[in-house]
Amino acid sequence: MRIPGSIALITGSARRVGRALALQLAAMGAKVAIHYRRSEREARDTLDGVRESGAEAELFQADLTLADERDALIEGVLARFGGLDILVNNASAFGAAALDQTTPKDWDEQVDTNAKAPFFLARRAGHLMVDAGRGKIINIADTAGESIWPAYLPYSVSKAALLGVTRGLAKSLAPRVQVNAVAPGPVQFPEYYTEEQKRTAIERTLLKRPGSPEDVARAVVFLIENDYVTGETLHVDGGRHLL
Ligand SMILES: NC(=O)c1ccc[n+]([C@@H]2O[C@H](COP(=O)([O-])OP(=O)(O)OC[C@H]3O[C@@H](n4cnc5c(N)ncnc54)[C@H](OP(=O)(O)O)[C@@H]3O)[C@@H](O)[C@H]2O)c1
Repeated sequence: MRIPGSIALITGSARRVGRALALQLAAMGAKVAIHYRRSEREARDTLDGVRESGAEAELFQADLTLADERDALIEGVLARFGGLDILVNNASAFGAAALDQTTPKDWDEQVDTNAKAPFFLARRAGHLMVDAGRGKIINIADTAGESIWPAYLPYSVSKAALLGVTRGLAKSLAPRVQVNAVAPGPVQFPEYYTEEQKRTAIERTLLKRPGSPEDVARAVVFLIENDYVTGETLHVDGGRHLL
């Protein structure tokens, strides 16, 4: 698939990694649907950045844990751009919760945001893509989905489910639509991380340094442009998954 002229929806793209994805795809000539939930000010800033590169872009607000808001998001993108070629499921709920600390609320929030929402967004988008004869779906997962971090149980389980969703949708939407995952390592620390938490995360990589949101963006571009890869998980984690 060629990126110039394609229509891309990136969830959670007001800030941080999602913003880098939106800017990268816009710089390569995609029309970009910027989705946000609460970060309206940052979303407007990202919209300005995207439009500076000359790309067509629009903002869409939705809480992706709500079915009607998910549906309205896809319908809004179709109404504005007339199609959808690329869906990047990037929005995510992240938080620490070990076995005995996990509440039903933690579970629902993280599993609904990180696995259920991508599944239902991808199903709707995938049907549109199959009808159009082509499409790419990329799920932003986490190495936690493979190694399962006990201090982040619902998050890890939600990302494990997302990896399963990736393979299941790759099978279900083949041959016209390719579905892949990118599993980042530490590419942008949460704002509240202490220096010690940052050092620990870096120490747990083979490359002994953090990556960047742009590293993730380059992996997404690769998966969009390569039509013979599906059901794959591309680690962008400095080798963390091997440790
Ligand atoms: N940052 C890293 O180093 C790292 C490492 C491994 C994996 N990842 C993965 O890479 C992706 C991007 O990472 P990130 O750190 O940039 O993510 P993030 O800042 O934790 O979250 C991205 C966005 O998700 C949106 N979001 C959360 N709950 C939502 C909901 N219920 N409905 C709609 N949107 C919701 C938020 O939008 P609003 O702010 O608008 O509310 C938030 O800005 C995530 O999937 C993450 O799991 C990141």
